[in-house]
Amino acid sequence: MSEAKARSVMDQLVALCKRRGFLFQSSEIYGGINGFWDYGPLGVELKRNIREAWWYDMVTSHNDLVCPPGAPSPYEMVGIDATIIMHPQVWKCSGHYDQFHDIMQSCRECKRLFRADQVGDLLRESPWVESLMGALGCSLNDTQVPVREEALVRWAQGKGRKLAPGLALLRSCEGNLASQQVRAIAGRSWNLWELLAKLGSSCEEGNTTSLPCPECGGELTEPREFNLMFETYVGAVRDEQSKTFLRPETAQGIFVNFKNVLDSTRVRIPFGIAQIGKSFRNEITPRYFTFRSREFEQMEIEFFCHPRTSFEWYRYWRDRRFRWYVELGLSSERLRLRDHSPEELSHYSCGTADIEYAFPFLPPGQFGELEGVAHRGDFDLRSHMEGKLIRQNGCFVLELNEKGEPKYRGSGKDLMYYDEVTQERYIPHVIEPSAGADRAALAFLCEAFTEDEVPDEKGQPTKRTVLRLHPRLAPIKAAVFPLVKKDLMPEIAREIYGELKRHFNVFYDEKGAIGRRYRRQDEVGTPFCITVDGQTLQDGTVTIRDRDTLKQWRVKKEDCVPELRRLLGLP
Ligand code: GAP
Repeated sequence: MSEAKARSVMDQLVALCKRRGFLFQSSEIYGGINGFWDYGPLGVELKRNIREAWWYDMVTSHNDLVCPPGAPSPYEMVGIDATIIMHPQVWKCSGHYDQFHDIMQSCRECKRLFRADQVGDLLRESPWVESLMGALGCSLNDTQVPVREEALVRWAQGKGRKLAPGLALLRSCEGNLASQQVRAIAGRSWNLWELLAKLGSSCEEGNTTSLPCPECGGELTEPREFNLMFETYVGAVRDEQSKTFLRPETAQGIFVNFKNVLDSTRVRIPFGIAQIGKSFRNEITPRYFTFRSREFEQMEIEFFCHPRTSFEWYRYWRDRRFRWYVELGLSSERLRLRDHSPEELSHYSCGTADIEYAFPFLPPGQFGELEGVAHRGDFDLRSHMEGKLIRQNGCFVLELNEKGEPKYRGSGKDLMYYDEVTQERYIPHVIEPSAGADRAALAFLCEAFTEDEVPDEKGQPTKRTVLRLHPRLAPIKAAVFPLVKKDLMPEIAREIYGELKRHFNVFYDEKGAIGRRYRRQDEVGTPFCITVDGQTLQDGTVTIRDRDTLKQWRVKKEDCVPELRRLLGLP
């Protein structure tokens, strides 16, 4: 898909999500709040279906008595639901308090904040860079940008002044654009990044290599650390003692309950604890619709296993989780499994693979993370036993303060596992498949969004927008229509609707032409439409129409429930 086509698909999808009630900007009537999104009546059903599919496939339907294909052995799965606010020591020992930061830069002119590693991408999307490239007769994909003095001066005096008022070229040269700086830039070809850095640096500091602000062209500050955890206070007094954090991941709630789960159930290693819940990160640049939000939902498993078999389990979970997305309809050419290089690994990880999707809002060839599957070794349970760990010469050791004491003390509780059969005591290793429910919802929507042509009532080809969502994920499973609002058709259709409603989320509609009713359901991904027509009055059958194949067939009206069950693959 070309970049322009992908952008237009994304614009249409965003518009559809608002128009049909999938997603709204949070607090929209007050102008919205960046990085927060509300799910509307259809969006909430989609996200619930994703959560329920995940929970059912990973936890409830998991058979602990048999060995699934690819797994080293049978295993057990249980779930928990921990609180969002936890003891602040949790985040000190986990490393989040000291290390959960992004590197940011701010603009000295417009004061906007940017994640340092995103400045390049943001400049590629920036209106002033696009306009500059147009004025120079180039595109962002050109390896060399030839700069003619006349074109540069014309741009600077016109659109440049409006779109990039902070740009050093404009500020330092104060109207005298035939200045030393213009002459230093014009008359030769540049690589895009060198050119942007040059335009953004003032006459005096001509050699700087830092990129300008994507918003206004102003100078960016040196990169500095910014912790992503939202702070809050527990109780009436607001001081350091009462300060705690909204969880930035659900994982820690599982680690601190490891012993509780072991002591209160009969699970034995290998086993996994699953949790779904909200997480919060004060992202510097929330962007790409819901992809990078400040409040989002995670679906995480912490899988505890013996260190000896941990790499086999890591490979099992990596492949199992990849398959889950394929089974629910993500096409394999837009989905990929990518192993992290050693430099990319997080401080705790000895192996990580990302499941990534080529979202249409990303530049061609780029993928965005849907889920990370990490081998975390014994880092987490050890941290909550001993205190914050740091890596030294390839091993984790307790971090000490200037007095030689633990910088952050652990709980001191024994989180080791005793195997009664082998009589072995050890700290289990952890494999963590960590997925985002919102990113999954966005990927399923992007994949499902399709435009095709179908014949209308007169057989003429007409354009339609259809969400080809997997039936398990579709917000509405079937719509029930009377063909016309007379001859007892509405009465029969309402009766069928009432019966179906006890089993599935279905929708009743008797307004407008039948073709329009089909289109409205196609647009929100309803896989089946059931129509009561003239023949129903004679032989008691109704038509069922398939959203994707457009095939129609007849079933007895009493058989709608079992037929829909069969179509949805339900027992
Ligand atoms: N416990 C490990 C962990 O939290 P992560 O890679 O930071 O790992 C896991 O997050 C998943 O959570 C990501 O793959 C993504 O799906 C989701 N996620 C993370 N940050 C997000 C954000 N700002 N907005 C939406 N989803 C996010």
